[in-house]
Amino acid sequence: MIILRTIPELRTFVHDWQGQGLRIGLVPTMGYLHAGHLSLIDHVRPRCDRLIVSIFVNPTQFAPGEDLDRYPRNIERDEQAVAAHGTDAIFYPDAPEMYPEGFRTFTIVEGLGDVLCGRTRPTHFRGVTTVVSKLFNLTRCQVAAFGQKDYQQSLIIRRMAADLNYDVDVLVCSTVREEDGLAMSSRNSYLSPEERERAVCLYRALTKGQKLFSLGERSAAKIRQEMKRTIQATPGVSIDYLEAVDAYNLQPLEKIDRPAVLAGAVYVGATRLIDNVIIEP
Ligand code: PAJ
Repeated sequence: MIILRTIPELRTFVHDWQGQGLRIGLVPTMGYLHAGHLSLIDHVRPRCDRLIVSIFVNPTQFAPGEDLDRYPRNIERDEQAVAAHGTDAIFYPDAPEMYPEGFRTFTIVEGLGDVLCGRTRPTHFRGVTTVVSKLFNLTRCQVAAFGQKDYQQSLIIRRMAADLNYDVDVLVCSTVREEDGLAMSSRNSYLSPEERERAVCLYRALTKGQKLFSLGERSAAKIRQEMKRTIQATPGVSIDYLEAVDAYNLQPLEKIDRPAVLAGAVYVGATRLIDNVIIEP
C-alpha cells in the first residue's frame, strides 16, 4: 500500500491507473477509522480495480469553535486497518495541500444543506461538498462510498454528483453500530464511560419512533413527541433536533405518508452525536 501526501504524487498514480483502463474506487474519511469506515472499504473493494482511501480532517467543514483542533487522529493505526482491508493507496494530504493560499472556490448544493444539521452548522455542508468534489476530481474515481449514518451528507453528495455530472457511482452503506445500538463514530472517543452509556438513548429514541410507525402511527408530531420523551428521560443529554423528514428533500412531514427519515442530533455532555433510521410506508 502506498501513502500519498501530495497532489502531484496522487496524480502520477491516478494517470498510470487510468492509462491501464483500471476502475478507481474512493472512500473519503477524516481518519480515526472504525468498523463503519471499514465497511465502506469492504463495499467498494470488489467494485473497483484500485482503491484509494482519503484521510483528511477537512477544515472547511468545521466552524470556528468546533472540534477541528482536537478531532481524534491515529494515522499508524489507520494505515494498518486499511491495508488489512485491501486498500491500494491512502491519500493523506495536509491542509495547505488541499487549500493553498488564495483558495476561493466552493461547491454548494442549495436547499438540502440548510435543514437538520445545517441549522446548527450552517457552513458545514459547503465544506463537505467542496472537499468531496476536489477528491472526486483528483482521484478520478468511478465509484465512491458514503455511510447512511450521515444521511443528509449522503443525499447532498448524490445531488452534487448528479448536478455536476460526475461519472461516479455514489454508494450509500448501512450504519454500523456498537452492540447496544450506538452508531459508530470517531467522535464517540470523546465520551466518558458514563456518557457512553447515555449516548445510546438517541438510537433508542429513533427505534421507538420506528416501532410506533410500524404499529400504524402516521402523525410526525406524535412520533417526535415519543422520541423526545426518550431523550429527555436521559440525564446529561440535550436535543439539537429530532425530526421526521421526507427521505428525498429532507422537508419536515406532518403525516408520514411517503418514504421518510427519522433523524436526530443530541449533545451528550459537550459531544454532538447524530443518527437516523429510514421508514417506509
Ligand atoms: P467521517 O466522519 O470520517 O466518515 C467517513 C465516511 O464514513 C462517511 O461517509 C460516513 O458517513 C461513514 N461512516 C461514519 N460512521 C459510520 C458508521 N457507523 N457506519 C457506516 N458508515 C459510517 O463524513 C466524513 O468523514 C466527512 O464529512 C467526509 C465525507 C470525509 C468529507 O470530509
